[in-house]
Amino acid sequence: MEDAKPSVTKANPTQAETASKQSVAQKSEKNMDEAVKISIIIPTNAYFMSGLRDFTMNIVRNMTGFSEQWAFRFQSVVDELVNNAIEFGSATGKDVTITFVSRKGKSIEIFVADTGTGPTKKTAQEMTATVEQGKHIDPTKMTSLRGRGLAQIVANWTDVLEFKDNPEGGLTIHVVKYLEEGEQL
Ligand SMILES: Nc1ncnc2c1ncn2[C@@H]1O[C@H](COP(=O)(O)OP(=O)(O)OP(=O)(O)O)[C@@H](O)[C@H]1O
Ligand SMILES: [Mg+2]
Repeated sequence: MEDAKPSVTKANPTQAETASKQSVAQKSEKNMDEAVKISIIIPTNAYFMSGLRDFTMNIVRNMTGFSEQWAFRFQSVVDELVNNAIEFGSATGKDVTITFVSRKGKSIEIFVADTGTGPTKKTAQEMTATVEQGKHIDPTKMTSLRGRGLAQIVANWTDVLEFKDNPEGGLTIHVVKYLEEGEQL
């Protein structure tokens, strides 16, 4: 009787193996292109801001490819947008919805939606005009401590800043920042 042949490890992958490896690589490349979307709903209470700040930092660090400096900037952007939603947009006990959309190595998008139940009723069109006005004010000559959030902070650190009227009332503020050379981790 012949001895059992030792099993031989193949040095060269078969065609089928190569094809399957390629398709895994293609899939993971495709995954990199896919957007990851995360939404958080908080009640209108400043208590939740510190947790949201931590969350923003972690998302930017782990899922976007932006540098740490940009992670700090996005924390400020989220702070400004959510503080506005709490102060002006949603009444006490109502919600603010924050949505992050990350395309790793490409962009981060943030949506902040309120319910329009708060003290300030402004349409998307009015908000666009408010920001345009604010952009033309020289920040070194500003006398008020207020009115800087959108025009001086959010607009400076994003490529797109736009407003949408929600069908059920309130506003959604949408910002996009594209990842450019020198801004990577
Ligand atoms: N979510 C919102 N709903 C309704 N009105 C808003 C909303 N966000 C901002 N506004 C209006 O737009 C104005 C400008 O907002 P912005 O954040 O630039 O300044 P501010 O909140 O007044 O001051 P700061 O952000 O510097 O403390 C606000 O004063 C408010 O009238
Ligand atoms: Mg503000």
